[in-house]
Amino acid sequence: MDAVRIYGGNCLSGQTKIQGSKNASLPILAATLLIDGTCEITNCPDISDVYHMLRLLESLGCVVSREADAIRIDTKGVAECDMPADSVGVMRSSIMLLGALLARMGEVAMEYPGGCVIGRRPIDQHLYTLRRMGVEITEGPEGFCARAGRLHGAVHELPFVSVGVTENLVLAAVLAEGETVIHPAAREPEIQALCEFLVSAGGKIEGAGTDRLVIEGVKKLHPVRFRVPADRIVAGTWLAACLCAGGRVFLEDAPCGQMESVLACAENLGVNLRRLPEGLLVEGRACKGLKEALVTAVYPGFPTDLQSLFMAVIAFSGHGGRIEETVFENRFRIVQELQKMGADIRVEGNRATVRGGRKLHNTIVEAKELRGGAALVVAALAAEGTGIVTNRHFIDRGYEDIARSLRDLGAEIELT
Ligand code: EPZ
Repeated sequence: MDAVRIYGGNCLSGQTKIQGSKNASLPILAATLLIDGTCEITNCPDISDVYHMLRLLESLGCVVSREADAIRIDTKGVAECDMPADSVGVMRSSIMLLGALLARMGEVAMEYPGGCVIGRRPIDQHLYTLRRMGVEITEGPEGFCARAGRLHGAVHELPFVSVGVTENLVLAAVLAEGETVIHPAAREPEIQALCEFLVSAGGKIEGAGTDRLVIEGVKKLHPVRFRVPADRIVAGTWLAACLCAGGRVFLEDAPCGQMESVLACAENLGVNLRRLPEGLLVEGRACKGLKEALVTAVYPGFPTDLQSLFMAVIAFSGHGGRIEETVFENRFRIVQELQKMGADIRVEGNRATVRGGRKLHNTIVEAKELRGGAALVVAALAAEGTGIVTNRHFIDRGYEDIARSLRDLGAEIELT
């Protein structure tokens, strides 16, 4: 079966190593197209989204090999600019190949990338900003064709912060003619990792981690070896597991410096944290109520990707709480599933109110997308009885093996 079985109601105890960041790996893998030669990327997570990205690179003519946790990508043979629809459609991050391929090949034909249940996820800003850098884009019902000579720099004053648009523009600008300014740029650690990768390959990028990026186009980049940082969202997922089920866990390599908004929220919920150079020590469980609503925001605010996880935490905290989702328009899909477990949650627009004092019980629930699916597994750890979370393939997009990681932390859990 495509599911996870969880025997709930036990405290956690143990330690697990945090995998490499999915959302840093994907743009960095796309960025190898800008480099003629062989790059070696280490600490890439073994997840289906990385598999699909590597398949897309191979479909373009790259030679990809994997030795242990190192992925080697030789782009010398890149010749195609037509990507297989099944891999493009299945994950949104295929849009990141657009900027890189235009810079490398000058032409791309692709289907519209997959949206998902959390929102429409349009690409209007991707297309609008690339047009301003000299790209001609012809849109059809299923997809679009983009062509450009040498891209030229531009000053982009964006209407809102977008992680993907910032990444695409960096990839388009790093070999473009002249200077490109991106403001407000996304400040996520994944953007910083992408910029570090490109600078190590000879790119000229100022302002990584700030809301203003300035990229001076260069003629050529050279092959590099680069290590992907640990995944702050996966670390936040295992933190939420301990907040729900209680116990004492050590999260090796947890990037605490990139998680301050999440750690502050966890401490307000009553758990003890010790930020160590090697990782994060978590003791206790969520036992207090949040005085303020939990509001998601762009980095360094509370990450939208952990909103579902902390909805589960609040449902178990005994005190309830309020949540406001400001990034995506439909990211409360787990409410219906948590209600099947006995949670009392009211949704009004982009606000959810979780009532406290409810005993949750395990049952069969359905994952509908990546982070919501992980949140249901985390909730099942704390609920009474045996739970089943179906549609595990959504979870496998972002977690190497959710059962193995949680078993490391003492959970009774198995894939089925
Ligand atoms: C990235 O998605 C992440 N994905 C998401 O993680 C994450 O939730 C999101 O950033 C926000 O942090 C990857 O990095 C692969 P956005 P992205 O562009 O780039 C709207 C996960 O679980 N928008 O910052 O698609 C958009 O609809 C995933 O790992 C437009 O309207 O997010 C959203 O409402 C889920 N037009 C808002 O901007 C556009 O052209 C922010 O989205 C582009 C975006």
